[in-house]
Amino acid sequence: MRAGDSPLLPVRLFIELLAKNSCILEAVVLCSYLETGAIDLRERSVIELGAGTGLLGIVATLLGAHVTITDRASALEFLESNIQDNLPSEHHPRAVVKELTWGRNLENFSPGKFDFILGADIIYLEETFVDLLETLEYLCSEHTTILLSCRIRYERDQNFLKMLKGHFSVHEVHYDTSKDVHIFKAQRSFHKEDL
Ligand SMILES: C[S@@+](CC[C@H](N)C(=O)[O-])C[C@H]1O[C@@H](n2cnc3c(N)ncnc32)[C@H](O)[C@@H]1O
Repeated sequence: MRAGDSPLLPVRLFIELLAKNSCILEAVVLCSYLETGAIDLRERSVIELGAGTGLLGIVATLLGAHVTITDRASALEFLESNIQDNLPSEHHPRAVVKELTWGRNLENFSPGKFDFILGADIIYLEETFVDLLETLEYLCSEHTTILLSCRIRYERDQNFLKMLKGHFSVHEVHYDTSKDVHIFKAQRSFHKEDL
């Protein structure tokens, strides 16, 4: 997609404005990364974990993906209304809001269904790390790519990355120096015993 063709210019200006005064930096950086075209999301199946405002899921939908936008039950009403208000109606059939509390009722989701798992600023509660990892492991097949954006503020953030590296092959694909936000890509580790 050429820069002049981007359907996201108004969204980009809006999110840059929001990011100046808020805590959605990680989502903004991952949205901007996706918008560069580094990854082609058209017609791909995507799930967003811990969506919060739904910004990342909205942008992935605008970039042509079929997106399941998830969060825990208490966050869904706000998330649903944000999607209704901010995603143009012609895109609604490609965006579904669904409850996903990490580690719980995972059988409601088909393992292997998703090409991409996205998460912005979801590595922040140590007590959720085991459940979050279990969720990633459950949803991720050998063709799935996980993209996580985060700031590394505390030792616990490093701890989660270590846990992730124990189960997936993990690479940093982008670092936004001005916002101090990292984007990590994780894929299933290749095991000889899988042959
Ligand atoms: C710091 S917010 C980030 C929100 C959004 N991704 C963003 O970048 O603006 C963390 C999100 O994770 C969700 N979350 C926290 N614990 C969770 C859990 N156990 N299961 C599912 N979602 C959870 C919260 O509801 C919240 O929306």
